[in-house]
Amino acid sequence: MDQRPIAVFDSGLGGLTVVRALRDRLPAEDIVYLGDTARVPYGSKTPETVKRFAREICAFLLRMNPKCIVAACNTASAVCLPELADEFSAPLIGAVTPGARSAVDASNPGDLLAVIGTEATIASNAYRNAIHTIDPDRPVVQVACPLFVPIVEEGVSATDPIVNMVIDRYLAPMRRLKPAAVLLGCTHYPIIHDAIAAYFGDNVTLIDSGDATAQMADAILTRLGALSDLRGRGSLHCYVSDHPRRFQAVGSHFLGEPIPDVVRVCPEELARDAERVLPTVPRASA
Ligand code: DGL
Repeated sequence: MDQRPIAVFDSGLGGLTVVRALRDRLPAEDIVYLGDTARVPYGSKTPETVKRFAREICAFLLRMNPKCIVAACNTASAVCLPELADEFSAPLIGAVTPGARSAVDASNPGDLLAVIGTEATIASNAYRNAIHTIDPDRPVVQVACPLFVPIVEEGVSATDPIVNMVIDRYLAPMRRLKPAAVLLGCTHYPIIHDAIAAYFGDNVTLIDSGDATAQMADAILTRLGALSDLRGRGSLHCYVSDHPRRFQAVGSHFLGEPIPDVVRVCPEELARDAERVLPTVPRASA
């Protein structure tokens, strides 16, 4: 039994969908969350920049002595998870492998799988590769949907007509291919799940990589004998790199429960932590 917290990070608010799934599955666990709201979006940045941000965040979260770190952010998971996992002592759980596994399990061999994510996630081919590791012959189609993230960060309702316009703009060619399942390869997308589901219709299964990630965290912690044996609801401590009040207001809606006090940690502090914990952190190139 292990009473230490589970640490979770994302570029912004979206990772709260993973926190929600974790709190549904593992209600007794304490959770520490960091949303890098000062530097969102990650999806349009280079892999080097995303990796630097993710390293800084992991170094900061290690201060909390977590039993594991969940890289809720699909973009970070896609571009740098294996490298980061080698650097940190705490187990690092990413979104790509569990998401790919869920999508394959939810469909039949030969069925077309569709993956949507940020530009960086799609360009990395991480999901396609993970699906092909499980089923090498599986047809996969991928599309980046960059505007979904700011729409969600702005707190735009899934029923707002602008959401449907953007969905149609990105996903019309994919819908014509009639995929069996659509994998939501970004933490922000479950917030507009219903609009995407309605767009594809009843015959298409939507896979939430966040649910799959929470399921994998549960399985790993169970295997390690590292679940908390405390009774009652675990605590939630949130850190953001910008604007705590805004995060609290919009985020409570995503989380489905009020968010307690949110603490601001500026990006400079995150960078300093990384230098302290990881003396070999490469400097940002100009
Ligand atoms: N929410 C993150 C993801 O799951 C990244 C979104 C972004 O910052 O562009 O990919």
